[in-house]
Amino acid sequence: SSFPSKLKNGLSKLGVPLGILNFLFKPFEDYEKFYRIPEAKGQIAAVRNEAFFVPLYELYFTYGGIFRLNFGPKAFLIVSDPAIVKHILKDNSKAYSKGVLSEILDFVMGKGLIPADGEIWRTRRRAIVPALHQRFVTAMIDVFSQATDRLAKKLDAAASNGESVEMESLFSRLTLDIIGKAVFNYDFDSLTNDTGIVEAVYVVLREAELRSTAPIPVWDIPIWKDISPRLKKVNAALKLVNDTLNDLIAICKRMVEEEELQFHEEYMNEQDPSILHFLLASGDDVSSKQLRDDLMTMLIAGHETSAAVLTWTFYLLSQDPGVMSKLKKEVDTVLGDRFPTIEDLKNLKYTSRVISESLRLYPQPPVLIRRSLEEDVLGEYPIRRGEDIFISVWNLHRSPQLWEDADKFNPERWPLDGPAPNETNQNYRYLPFGGGPRKCIGDMFASYENVVVLAMLVRRFDFQLAPDAPPVKMTTGATIHTTDGLVMKVRRRNTQPIISTLGIPVVEASSPASMSSSVD
Ligand code: HEM
Repeated sequence: SSFPSKLKNGLSKLGVPLGILNFLFKPFEDYEKFYRIPEAKGQIAAVRNEAFFVPLYELYFTYGGIFRLNFGPKAFLIVSDPAIVKHILKDNSKAYSKGVLSEILDFVMGKGLIPADGEIWRTRRRAIVPALHQRFVTAMIDVFSQATDRLAKKLDAAASNGESVEMESLFSRLTLDIIGKAVFNYDFDSLTNDTGIVEAVYVVLREAELRSTAPIPVWDIPIWKDISPRLKKVNAALKLVNDTLNDLIAICKRMVEEEELQFHEEYMNEQDPSILHFLLASGDDVSSKQLRDDLMTMLIAGHETSAAVLTWTFYLLSQDPGVMSKLKKEVDTVLGDRFPTIEDLKNLKYTSRVISESLRLYPQPPVLIRRSLEEDVLGEYPIRRGEDIFISVWNLHRSPQLWEDADKFNPERWPLDGPAPNETNQNYRYLPFGGGPRKCIGDMFASYENVVVLAMLVRRFDFQLAPDAPPVKMTTGATIHTTDGLVMKVRRRNTQPIISTLGIPVVEASSPASMSSSVD
C-alpha cells in the first residue's frame, strides 16, 4: 500500500482517533481512488487527419472498457463497456448532463432538447414527445416518398446522360427537405434550390461541426467575434434561419387560431401535420425563443443523422453485391412500384435489417457526450463530479468481444423472425438511438424514413461506386462524413412494372420462393 495509507495505519495504532484520521487523510484517499482508472497519455497526438474516434478504438484494445485520456490540460473518460454505458444512460442518468456538448451547440440550439438539462429538458421533452405520435409518423411516410421521388427524378437525369452523382450531398438535401416539412411544414426544396435559406442552413451546420471538433473555442474570444469574416457570415446565416423560423411560428399560430379542430391525443391537422402545429395546438406554453431552439434542434438532429445513415448504407451495399441483390428481391416483391404504405414498411424486414446493420457499423453520432453532476461509481472505479465522458458507441458496436465478425457488414445477424434490434434487447451493446430517458425521440420517424428512401431507390436504380470515385474515407463532424464524397454511377433498372392491370400487385415470376418465406 501507499505511503499515506501506511502512515494512517501507523497513527491509528498509536491511538489517534479514526474520525480525525479520516478527516486528515481524505484528500489522499480521494486522490488514490480517482486515479485508479487506466490512463492513456499523449497517445492522441498523432491523430490529425483521422476521424477522432478511430484512435479511441485502438486505445480501447489496450486499456479496456473505461480509461482516462489526457490531452493537454483536458481529460476525458472514454467508456466502451455496455454495463457502464447502461448505468450512465439509464440507471443513474440523473447524475449526468450533456456537458461540453451544450457549450459547443449553444450558439445554434440554445436550450433546445438535445443540449438542455434539468428542468428545461424535462418540461420540453414532455411537451414534444407526444407530437411524434403514430398517426403523425404514418402521415410522414407520404412526405418521405414524395421527397424520394423528387430525388429519383434527379437520378433519372444522371442515369440518362451517364454522369456520376455525389450521393452524400444529395442525401443531405433529401433529408433536409423531409425534416423541414415534418418539423415546421416548410419546403426547403433544397434538391433544386441552393441559395438563401438553404445556403444559410448549411453555413450554420458547418459551423456547428467545426465547433464540435475545434480544439480552441475562438468564437468566444471577444475581438475575434467582431472581426472574423467567417463568424460574420455565420451570424448573418444564423439570423436568416432564426428569422425564418420566427415567421413560420407566427404563420402557424394564425392557422391554429383559425382552425376548429379539437385537440386530442393523436391530433393532427391534415393540411399541416407538422410538429410545430401540434405543439401550438396543444397550447404549449413556451417562449418563442425556446420554441425556436427546439425547432432548430430537431432540424439539425433529424437532418444530418439520416443523411449519414443513408450515405453509409449505400457505401456498404456497394461493397456487398450479395446483400444488395437480396435487398432488391425483397423490395421488388413487397413493394413493386407503389409508394410504400405503413403495411409495406412492416413487411420490408430485410430492408430494415440492412439499416440496423448499417447503424451498427456507422453509428450517428459515433460518440455520446456526458458530464458527471455528482460522484458516482463506474464499474469498479469511483469518479468525481465534473468528469467529461465520451461514450464510444463506435467501440461498442465494433467490439470483437461483443460481436462475431464485428467488422463484417452482415444484416443476416439480425433474424427476420426476431425483433428489430434496439438497446434494450441487445443489452446496451447496440445503441443506434441512445438509451434511457434521453433516447432519440425521432427513432421511429427515422427508421421509416431510411427504409422508404432505401427501398424506393434500389427498386428503381442500380448503384455502383463510380470507377473514378475518390476512395471513401471517414471524417468527423457531429456525424460521420466521407472525406471526399460518395461518388456513384446510377443505372435505371429494367424492372417490368409489377402492378397488374387490375391494380393488384403481382409478384415477379423470377422471385425465388425463399423470399416469400423470409418475409411474413
Ligand atoms: C437524440 C440518433 C433522427 C431528434 C438522439 C440520440 C441519438 C440519436 C444517438 C441520443 C443522444 C445522446 O444520448 O446524447 C439519431 C439517429 C437518427 C435520428 C441515428 C436518424 C437515423 C432524429 C430525428 C429527430 C431526432 C428525425 C427529430 C424529429 C432527437 C432529439 C434528441 C435525439 C430531439 C434529444 C432527446 C433528448 O435529449 O431528450 N438521436 N436520431 N432524431 N434525437 Fe435523434
